Amino acid sequence: MKFESGPLQQLSRRVEQYRPGLRMSEIGQVASVGDGIAWVLGLPSAAAEEILRFEDGSRGMVFELQSERLGVILLDPLANVTSGSRVSRTGRRLEIGIGDGALGRVLDPLGKPLDGGPAFAADGHGALEAASPPIMARDFVDAPLYTGIKVVDTLIPIGRGQRQLIIGDSGTGKTALALDAVIAQVGQGVRCVVVMIGQKRSEAARVVDVLRRYDALRYTTVVVAEATATPGMKYLAPFAGCAIAEGWMRHGQDTLVVYDDLSSHARAYRELSLLMHRPPGREAYPGDIFYLHARLLERATRLAKQHGGGSLTALPIVQTEEGEIAAYIPTNLISITDGQIYLDRRLFAAGVLPAVDVALSVSRIGGKAQHPRIKREAGTMKLGYLQFLELEVFTRFGTKLEAGAEAKIARGRVMREVLKQDRLCPLPPAFQLAWMTAFGAGLLDHLEPQQVPAALERIRAGLAADPAIGLETARELWQERLTQWLGSAAS
Ligand SMILES: Nc1ncnc2c1ncn2[C@@H]1O[C@H](COP(=O)(O)OP(=O)(O)OP(=O)(O)O)[C@@H](O)[C@H]1O
Ligand SMILES: [Mg+2]
Repeated sequence: MKFESGPLQQLSRRVEQYRPGLRMSEIGQVASVGDGIAWVLGLPSAAAEEILRFEDGSRGMVFELQSERLGVILLDPLANVTSGSRVSRTGRRLEIGIGDGALGRVLDPLGKPLDGGPAFAADGHGALEAASPPIMARDFVDAPLYTGIKVVDTLIPIGRGQRQLIIGDSGTGKTALALDAVIAQVGQGVRCVVVMIGQKRSEAARVVDVLRRYDALRYTTVVVAEATATPGMKYLAPFAGCAIAEGWMRHGQDTLVVYDDLSSHARAYRELSLLMHRPPGREAYPGDIFYLHARLLERATRLAKQHGGGSLTALPIVQTEEGEIAAYIPTNLISITDGQIYLDRRLFAAGVLPAVDVALSVSRIGGKAQHPRIKREAGTMKLGYLQFLELEVFTRFGTKLEAGAEAKIARGRVMREVLKQDRLCPLPPAFQLAWMTAFGAGLLDHLEPQQVPAALERIRAGLAADPAIGLETARELWQERLTQWLGSAAS
């Protein structure tokens, strides 16, 4: 029977023309499963980091390529993958949804909500493993990223696009310092990502709660791979956070990413590598552990104007044992980053908070991004403070000091008091300039250390009452005002 026209005619033509043939596709098989990984046989053309799909619909990521088999990270915790399950290739790499829909959300490293909310509407997708921007697409770090923390913004300044390591023993205030920096971005147009790796659920809840209370969750995404997550998820977490921030950076926005912390990340990577039978090296870490963190942190940068001028500032955190900064993972990170903020356990115990050890902390590029006025006041301040710390050690032995040294010590003690700061109270750049100008002009010299907080409060109140005064105000006017504020309450 023949049809003259219409869809039926087309169908009959297709049936007539149909020739049975072979269509090739690789189907692999799971050899074994356990600890969040699977070994897969029979997918000879699968590529590293390719996503595979298992028979039950769940996904896995190729992590280890061996001649006969593949080591695969399982991406679905509830997957029903058993030995014998069939596996196929997808030809795709792991991506995460990006865009403003991620703001205010708590996500797992695959972008699934952990906050009980619905899946967010993504504007696009970002690859977890992406090449870092080429040199020609980068620009110099030349704009400051204010953390609102006195000692950081003045003596160890951070620029947008910089990688600044926060390093210290457990419980020295690393997380607190990073969160303060995030909270200080209110109204600064900086989008933030906080990545939490291998921490307890209660700690993650505490962080989210702080961000919400200080209205910082509005411009922040939290990525969590908690302590009980598989090593694969912990391994992926910082890359997921980075991909989200990168999406914004490519749209010309400034971003800040906290990786809390990369010690846990390194341990997860070590565990994963041992499960995958990679040869262990120093401290049983695999040989490419340096490359792992280098390729993550290389993605932090300032993009050139013609590429939108966005930036990704990274605050990786690393934990030390007994203050040992020369250990394997910390030294690697120190060499990869543009500087470090070192938190000291003894300072913490002595109540010097934040417990930043100024002598061991450095910012190699942030000074270039500092506001010229703040930079000028900062001038020799760090040097003077370091001299004081050294001199102070001598006084402990009862050594008699010359008159000049006595004055230096008195000034240093005042400065130490000035630099103390409670957590969760970020201070604006104008305040930083104010106290530095006052200190530089000797207006605080006559104070006893215990009188410092009241003097700072007077400066704060004076500033609040005089919004016209700011970073661009002439030094003379600043001095006049500061003298007035500091003097008025004294009388
Ligand atoms: N500037 C500060 N003023 C007052 N308290 C602070 C300050 N900084 C940190 N703390 C307190 O110190 C404690 C430890 O801080 P935090 O949890 O940030 O340390 P950590 O180095 O991240 O610890 P861990 O290595 O266990 O993650 C917290 O109770 C925190 O509130
Ligand atoms: Mg912490």
